[in-house]
Amino acid sequence: MKLLSIETSCDETAVSVLHAEGPADAAQFRILGNTLLSQIDIHKQYGGVFPALAKREHAKNLVPILSQSLAEANLLVTSEDTLSEVQRAQLSELLTREPELCSALTAFFEMHRAPAVDAICVTHGPGLAPALWVGVNFARALSLIWNIPVIGVNHMEGHLLSALVKKKDDLFVIEEVAKPVLALLISGGHTELLSMKDWLSYELIGHTRDDAVGEAYDKVARMLDLPYPGGPEVSRLAEEARAENIQQDTKLPRPMIYEQHADFSFSGLKTAVLYFVKAHEKLSEEDRKALAREFEDAVADVLFTKTSRALLETGAQTLVLGGGVSANKNIQRVFTEKISAEHPDVELRIPAPMFTTDNALMIGIAGYYRALANQFSDAATLAADGNLSLV
Ligand code: KG4
Ligand code: ZN
Repeated sequence: MKLLSIETSCDETAVSVLHAEGPADAAQFRILGNTLLSQIDIHKQYGGVFPALAKREHAKNLVPILSQSLAEANLLVTSEDTLSEVQRAQLSELLTREPELCSALTAFFEMHRAPAVDAICVTHGPGLAPALWVGVNFARALSLIWNIPVIGVNHMEGHLLSALVKKKDDLFVIEEVAKPVLALLISGGHTELLSMKDWLSYELIGHTRDDAVGEAYDKVARMLDLPYPGGPEVSRLAEEARAENIQQDTKLPRPMIYEQHADFSFSGLKTAVLYFVKAHEKLSEEDRKALAREFEDAVADVLFTKTSRALLETGAQTLVLGGGVSANKNIQRVFTEKISAEHPDVELRIPAPMFTTDNALMIGIAGYYRALANQFSDAATLAADGNLSLV
């Protein structure tokens, strides 16, 4: 089946078209069209994502991005069909808060025929509510006017399932996944360990009690005067420290590392970095590198120790890392080395770089699994939920 997918949960506007086939245990995906527009440069000046601005940018860019992805997939067919009065009224009601998007989309509908896709998948949470709503209402409008079913997708499920993907010639496949799967999902808003005994069935094993890892990275970056998004910047400094063999004597805390549960806490680590920075009037470039390295080591120690314990507890056969922070080189290295040394029977899957940061491909992949389970949404009532949970 062909799936059109839309992602607007944070600061990336993305639309993709996938051809998907096969059962859940041997699913195959071909990318037909994929367009992603990052708003990082716009939010950089605010040191973080500014929700009202994110929403406005999504509204401005969705139609051009849709058009580009459909064209790439050879699914953009021009026509001169006009919309009925009823359809126009439905559209303006659906997009009443996005008048600009409404007129751009109306013009698009009047120039193009419905594309040959079987479902429209859209992130409906978790994320920034105003940003999510633009994508959801856009998808509902497409579903309604084109008469194509819609599937609301959980963003974290997108991260999880896309992280299982392997490249095989020009296809992306999810196959030979030994279950149960333990997923460590680490992003700007989430840090959680989930067990997946079967497809689409999750149990929460542990989660952060305060800050998410990505949030801690972004806050530490700010303390070190590094630009947004901070994760890659802190990582760059830490990698330089490793290459130059620079290390600091003061150890940072590894919060909750010895506690016999799978929950995390990162706010104490973040505060320890703040105190360290405050206690040292002026940090040299070397000091900053050493601090970034120690912070990264503390994060990786905690993440690995908790995950290792959860692997034993759940009897997981596969460990998958997902979410924006899973792009981190040190985390990837620590997990690769330690899983093969300490859990040689567990297969570690780390997402390819194109799947680590937010994208629409992962929404199409998760949408396919929902379609296989016949879990379609009702376009009339599909709603965005900033706190949507997988369990
Ligand atoms: O999944 P994602 O793109 O957005 C959310 O769903 O939150 O994750 C974004 C987070 C940000 O906090 C960003 O700083 C962090 O992922 N991040 C990284 C790296 N790349 C992105 N953190 C550490 N190292 C990286 N290489
Ligand atoms: Zn994400």
